[in-house]
Formats: sequence, C-alpha cells, structure tokens
Amino acid sequence: MHLFLIFFLLFAKTCFADIYLHNPRGSNNRLNEPSATRKNNNRIFDSQNNDRGGYNVGDASNVPFQTESQQYQMRYFQSGLSSDSVLNLEWTDQHGCGGNLESDPTKQNCDLILQYICQSKDIDSTNIDRIRDGLNTNSQGYTEMAQDTLNANLQRKQNDVKLDLALQETWDYYDNCFYRQRNLGLFAADQNLNVNKKGYSGAVYTRQNPNGARSGYECPEERDYYPYWHPSPWKDIAILTSNVKNCDLFQTESFNQKSKFLCIENYSNSNDKKHWSKWNNKNDCETNGGKWTEFFNYLEKATHFNDESKCQSQTTDKIIYKWALPYDAIDINRKECLVLLPKPVCRQAEWTRSNHLGNTKDGKAPSFEWKLPYFPSKKIQKCVFRIRYNITTDDYDPKIDSKSNGQKSPIKNNPQIKIGANNQVLRLALNTAQYGRVFQDRSHSFLLIPRPDQISNSKIHNLNVRGKRGNIVQVYPAVEYDFIPNDLTVNTNDLVHIQWTGSNTHNNGQPEGDGQSGSDGQGRAGNDRNNLVQILSLNDNYPIPFEMTDLWKDTELFGYVNETLIKINSKDQAKDLALYLSSSGYYKCVKKETCDGESYELKQALDPDLNSSPASLPGVLLRFKKPNKNYFYMCSRNNNFSNRSQKGTIKVVD
Ligand SMILES: *[C@@H]1O[C@H](CO)[C@@H](O)[C@H](O)[C@H]1NC(C)=O
Ligand SMILES: *[C@@H]1O[C@H](CO)[C@@H](O)[C@H](O)[C@H]1NC(C)=O
Ligand SMILES: *[C@@H]1O[C@H](CO)[C@@H](O)[C@H](O)[C@H]1NC(C)=O
Ligand SMILES: *[C@@H]1O[C@H](CO)[C@@H](O)[C@H](O)[C@H]1NC(C)=O
Ligand SMILES: *[C@@H]1O[C@H](CO)[C@@H](O)[C@H](O)[C@H]1NC(C)=O
Repeated sequence: MHLFLIFFLLFAKTCFADIYLHNPRGSNNRLNEPSATRKNNNRIFDSQNNDRGGYNVGDASNVPFQTESQQYQMRYFQSGLSSDSVLNLEWTDQHGCGGNLESDPTKQNCDLILQYICQSKDIDSTNIDRIRDGLNTNSQGYTEMAQDTLNANLQRKQNDVKLDLALQETWDYYDNCFYRQRNLGLFAADQNLNVNKKGYSGAVYTRQNPNGARSGYECPEERDYYPYWHPSPWKDIAILTSNVKNCDLFQTESFNQKSKFLCIENYSNSNDKKHWSKWNNKNDCETNGGKWTEFFNYLEKATHFNDESKCQSQTTDKIIYKWALPYDAIDINRKECLVLLPKPVCRQAEWTRSNHLGNTKDGKAPSFEWKLPYFPSKKIQKCVFRIRYNITTDDYDPKIDSKSNGQKSPIKNNPQIKIGANNQVLRLALNTAQYGRVFQDRSHSFLLIPRPDQISNSKIHNLNVRGKRGNIVQVYPAVEYDFIPNDLTVNTNDLVHIQWTGSNTHNNGQPEGDGQSGSDGQGRAGNDRNNLVQILSLNDNYPIPFEMTDLWKDTELFGYVNETLIKINSKDQAKDLALYLSSSGYYKCVKKETCDGESYELKQALDPDLNSSPASLPGVLLRFKKPNKNYFYMCSRNNNFSNRSQKGTIKVVD
C-alpha cells in the first residue's frame, strides 16, 4: 500500500513552474489575457513553463489597447561609445542552478543563455517580417509546401503571416528549419521523431519535441541546443553556467564570434535561390548541387558603407565592421557591411535552490546586469530579450550521440529497475523527452533608443517596476510589485532613467489553472498603476509633503523621455518632476505655459487611486547632484503596510 502511494505520487504529472523573467517583464506567451492562465502556450515560443505566470504587454494609456500604437514598449537608452547603459535582468528558476561548493551542492547541471534580437524601428509598418507583439493571442500560421517554386513559396508566406499577430523569428527562418533535415547525429534517447510530408525528419523534430509542435516561428532544434550550428537571428549576451569549464567552448562557438553555414540551392531550371534546403552539411549539400554558404551574425547593418574597403576601414578598437553575408541576406550574392558582435560574457551561475523558484544566496532574485549595446547608426531599435534555462544530469555523458538512440538508450521512459538486495522492482519517474530539458521565457518587444549627444559620457541606470496586480498567491509564479533595482547606488555623474509599464487587464480571472484567481489591490480591478513619492525612511509609509522633499530639488532634469529626450523649459522643475512622478504622468507639469494641456492648471483633478493615469510611464532622465545622500521613496497606491511593500532607496556616492 505504501509503495503504491509513492508510485502514485511519482506518476502524478508535475508540470511545475520553470523559468520566469521579471525584468524586463517576461511574457510566458501572454499578451493581454484577463485570465490567470495564458491563452496560447505556443503563441511565440516554447516555454515549457506552467500556464500561469508571465506579464501582459504594456498599455500606453489608462484603457486596454485596441491598436498597436496603444501598446507600450519599454525604452532604454543605448550605451554610448565610452559609457554604459545598464539594465538589471531578473528572473526566477524553479529547479535550481549553479553552485560548485560543498556548502551549496548542485543537483543538476545548468546553463542560462541570455540573448536578444533587434530590428531597426523604422522598418515599414506593412513589412510582415517586422517584430511585433500582436493584437490577439493567436499564433502565426504555417502551411506545408504544395509546390516548390519561388512564387508558390512567396504566396504561402503571404497567406501564413498576419500583421496583427506577434512575430519574433521570421517565417523564412522557420520554413528553413522545417525543411532542413534534422541533425541525425543527436541523441534522441528512445523517442520516435516524426517526419514531414516530404517523408524526412526536419529540424522541428527533436528529442524534446518529437512531434514537431510549432510555437510561433521558433526553430525547435535551435531552441534545444546551444551553441547552435546553423545561423539564427539571436545575439548572445551571456552564458551563466554551473560548469565554467565550458566557457571557452561557448564563447568560441557563439554565433557572435563564429560564422555558420547553410546549404543554398537554386530552384530547378532557374537561377533563383531557394530559402530552404534539405541538406544540413557540406558534403550532402555539394553532392546535391548546392552551395555550402557562410553566414555572419551582426549587431546591425551599416548599409551606407557599400563596398568592402569603405566598410572595413570603419573598424576602430571598439567596433568591428566586416563586409560579409548576413544571416538574413536578401540576395545571397550580395555581401553587406556588418557591425560585428562582441564575445558573450560567460561566468559561474549564481546558486539557486531546487524546487524553490526563489532567490539566490544573498536573498535577491537571480539577475544579470546587461550593458546595453551601442548602435553606431544611432537608429531606434526594436528588440526582444530571451532567456533559456537548460538543465541536464550526469546520468548520461553530455557528449552522447545518436549511436545511443532507441534500444541502446541509457535512459528509458519510467523504467522499472532492480537494484535492491532482494531484486524488488522500483519505478523511476523519468521522461526521456525531458531528461535534459530547456525552459524559456521572453520579453515583449522593447526599444533601444540612441542617446542624445549631450549625454554621451554618463552611465545610465534604469530604474523600473517589476510585478503585477494581485496578492502573492494570485500573481504566483509572477511576483507582486516592487521597484527594480530597489536599492540603487549612483554617483553624481550618473544618470537615472525612471520608467515603468503596466497593463489594464491583469484581472487574473478564470481560468485560474494551478493557482488562485483574483486581483486584490488598490484602484480599478485588473489595472497596474505605479508612482513615486518620497518618504523619510524605509520604515515609513507616509510620504512627506512637497515642501519637505529634497529628492526633486537635488536633481537635474535632463528631460522627459519619449523616443528621445524632450526638454521642457520650466522655472518649477522640482515641482513639475514631483507632480509628474507622483501622478504617474497624468500631469506633466504645473503651469499651463510650460506644458499646456498636460498641466495641472488645465487638467481635471487626478484620481487618488491613479485610475485616470496611464498604466505606463516613459519617464524622465535625472542626475542626482548631491553626493553622500540617501533618498527613500515608495508607491502611494500599491504600498499597503502589512500587505505589500513597494519602496526603494537611491544612494548617491561621490
Ligand atoms: C543543453 O545542454 C545539453 C547538454 O550539455 C546540450 O547538448 C544542449 O545543447 C544544451 N541546450 C541549450 C539550449 O543550452
Ligand atoms: C544557380 O544559379 C547561379 C546564378 O545565380 C548559377 O551561376 C549556378 O550555375 C546555378 N547552379 C545550378 C546548380 O544550376
Ligand atoms: C492582504 O494580505 C492578505 C493576507 O496575506 C490577503 O488575503 C489579501 O488579499 C491582501 N490584500 C491585498 C489588497 O493585497
Ligand atoms: C490594504 O490591504 C487590506 C488588507 O487586504 C485591505 O483590506 C485594504 O482595503 C487595502 N487598502 C486599500 C486602500 O485598498
Ligand atoms: C512622442 O513620440 C511620438 C513618436 O515619435 C510622437 O508622435 C509624439 O507626439 C511624441 N510625444 C510627445 C509628448 O512629444
């Protein structure tokens, strides 16, 4: 009886919480669902996460978005040539990671892979390859090929891709993955991998995805393996690993550093190039008349340097330009001028506890300070951040390959084993599709905006808000509101960009999935709102009146942020600032001569619960002038003593 119970527990399907990105807000495939669970877990990518968690895309105003321009994209200033902009990436992972000491033993091997994609924002709004968050929760479509001609394939793409649905990877990238033979050398354990209508198994079938389920236009083979051996649009930021011995390999094999190849074939009886090929290696490619072609990753294209010498002579000690074929070449006979990417960071992952979805040893959520890229073109970029969490075990050699597939697999599904003194049989809970497993979360799209020239030499810190509407059990595995970083140290040359985003549809309603529905909190149901008011100490919950504040009087306002910095002349700068941040942007300034229709003088009274304020605030760029001072602040709406604390500190050092 006891054994039976134990077995029952082992069998119970636990599909529990895995990696959740909190800053920038991870979508976990959500868009704007008022429900606790996300609607479509294949909307953009395969997360392998629980269907709760994740954050809705931001709303620009105080009502739910209807159109794309009513969605809010976080915007962060790019780094300068000689100074950084930093963004605190923060997440929680469920199964533990890191650790190499006896005091913090590791229970699995783990790698965290941090990456992003970007696209110039001035891309035509009707371009179907444009990065976007989508207006409803459906996935982009995909149909298999009926006829392999250039026109038929272009038509198929036109029919599949919809402008009102989210897009991160492109259709061509997915189609190439779909029809490229999968890497037959890979270990697939005892999984049977499916085949496409042409009768072979493409790179969408993997040990972890044996039936080829599609999530947006993500390529499953690329998703499951890192470093990947073919081109992909992802640019590496960092690899945090429990085994730093692999860092050399990660850094040299990163597509940031090393070119990758694809087979390029012509359409039959034509000189037109195909965007796909079955052949995944040089030998098969050339034997079948294709050209094994080298592609490069890049930060951005420098299109105005239109020949090799003009291009490569731009190279400085900070930026390398290369005349080469980009991974997304429009014409594979035409090289372009590419700004190359730096080597990714690789370091020991911080220790986190297994089965915990919690903090690191220092009591803070696992995080990474991302030095945002500098784009020489000074163009606004639209980007997406992605984090993958790869956990593997020592039960088989990580270098294992297809020779151990099928019957020879060292691991079997839920095996019954005899290990005991009396040869009694025990069953292990083991799914060979998940033994060695990758989880993932991604941000919604955000902007990287160029720095105005006058601030080229200052470090910029991003001060944001994490969390969503509801109490701890309602939001789980997302988190309640807090400022991030809630303990920020700056010097008197540094700049701080204060900004936040929220949704008007975080109602956390039915279906509630594995948790509780409801969205307890202040103000209108389902609405995220934030603001910033000064308090005298972190122990206080009563903000001080403007006359007593120094936070705003001690700062220099560089401007309001839009997609650039907007300066407003005002004699009441401190008061304007206090009003703007405490009203969450409902008022921009005090006097009508300063900001006209957005002024306190001309607008109706503010709703004290901020219901009339926008859910997102593009914010301000500030410098704190006085060294050796600490400032404390809170959010007047969400801070509810004994229920929720939303407070922060800014420490100014010399
Ligand atoms: C996960 O780890 C395994 C084993 O080291 C490796 O083969 C695979 O490429 C990794 N995948 C990712 C996405 O990191
Ligand atoms: C493919 O097209 C190119 C011209 O774009 C031509 O030079 C080449 O010979 C063609 N290859 C085959 C195998 O027909
Ligand atoms: C306050 O906390 C209690 C108990 O932790 C919880 O039941 C309630 O929903 C919370 N209220 C708000 C407004 O978050
Ligand atoms: C603060 O939280 C308490 C406990 O849940 C709740 O009863 C109260 O309504 C909250 N205060 C406001 C102003 O919403
Ligand atoms: C912000 O930028 C957008 C797009 O560039 C522009 O349409 C809008 O008027 C700007 N808003 C303000 C307040 O300057």
